Amino acid sequence: MSSAKRILLIIGGGIAAYKCLELIRRLRERGHSVRAVMTSAAQQFVTPLSVGALTNERVLTNLFDLDDEREIGHIRLARDNDLIVVAPGTADLIAKMAGGHADDLATAVLLATDKPVLLAPAMNPAMWAHPATRRNVAQLKADGIRIIGPASGEMAERGEAGVGRLVEVPELLAAIEGIFESSERRQQRGVLEGRHVIVTSGPTHEPIDPIRYLANRSSGKQGFELAAAAADLGARVTLVTGPVSLPEPAGVDIVRIKTAAEMLEAVKAALPADVAVFAAAVADWRVEGIKTEKIKKTELPGAPTLTLSENPDILKIIAQPGPDRPRLVIGFAAETQNVLDYAKSKLKSKRADWIVANNVSPASGVMGGENNTVHLISAKGVESWPEMSKAKVARRIMERAAEELHTKRTAAE
Ligand code: CTP
Repeated sequence: MSSAKRILLIIGGGIAAYKCLELIRRLRERGHSVRAVMTSAAQQFVTPLSVGALTNERVLTNLFDLDDEREIGHIRLARDNDLIVVAPGTADLIAKMAGGHADDLATAVLLATDKPVLLAPAMNPAMWAHPATRRNVAQLKADGIRIIGPASGEMAERGEAGVGRLVEVPELLAAIEGIFESSERRQQRGVLEGRHVIVTSGPTHEPIDPIRYLANRSSGKQGFELAAAAADLGARVTLVTGPVSLPEPAGVDIVRIKTAAEMLEAVKAALPADVAVFAAAVADWRVEGIKTEKIKKTELPGAPTLTLSENPDILKIIAQPGPDRPRLVIGFAAETQNVLDYAKSKLKSKRADWIVANNVSPASGVMGGENNTVHLISAKGVESWPEMSKAKVARRIMERAAEELHTKRTAAE
């Protein structure tokens, strides 16, 4: 059995709502605390009074109940728990979840939560079989919602039978405990245990001759922090870095390269990987016709002219669809203006799953500094994070990457 957890139970408006009373008792017997939200339809089947008596907490029913907003607020309600259980999940509630509605407390909480959600559907078999419900359920699965049931059997309506019954309480309990136990196991093992993470970092140096090179101001700090965070969370890490002077993070395989071409080869050699994070400030151009001997002023009539050619875009190459593509490809967008617009277009043009965008204009102090203010851009939209240390940014990115891998796997199951 898992340790004591906080469960938010969202009770939908179905005849099976009465089973929630038993569920609450069993969960509390196991030491878990339960807070309940009831839709208005649910209150037609069981009363908030009886639910509240069993949870020993006030039952929440109304999004616009000012007292609730002052005391907890729906955003906190959505996050101050370890798991949200939706039971019975009616066809209407499922449709609202799939469509991202938020017009009552239950749906607003479900839209605002960052916690796992377990949905136990219950409805008439014809409603369950309807293409609209099939579509909605497929969407919820793709969104990472865990679904248990429905079971088959007799319906409350006379003469109706088929798939649509709420699963029985012991099954619901087992599913809930299963979620807690697997998340505890993952935490103990490190959420990235068994994963391979590749990180590129630092600048690249593009030689002009054996002495001189083209470079940029990247310190490599963010990339090194990413590698350290991934290793800390249990991953096997390959850090491919350009020339920097930073201490090596513990438990990381470090591959030191100088040029963009070498970085590309090193990344390819490190594949396959579950996650690849491209934090390097790769030089966009290299010098053509690199001299093998030092260029002497005396041998030239004036200043030399450098001819540049474009370097391979490592992120773009690795993010191409194919068997070797890491499951999660994360790029960085270092910009000095129009940060979000440029970053969004990089998400598309490079086919990355996420872009971490930051403002690196000199006034930001990011280049070489300890802190970073980033936006996480994905197909889902833009998340702007507050300013924090590069170590914290790294930790958060890696934790999110672990969640994403887990969600993708759960959805695929
Ligand atoms: N990147 C890469 N290989 C390159 C250039 C960039 O892997 N040759 C990666 C970087 O590591 C980063 C992302 O692509 O994750 C965006 O890099 P950035 O320098 O911001 O963008 P560029 O593609 O170089 O575009 P621009 O310089 O025009 O902003």
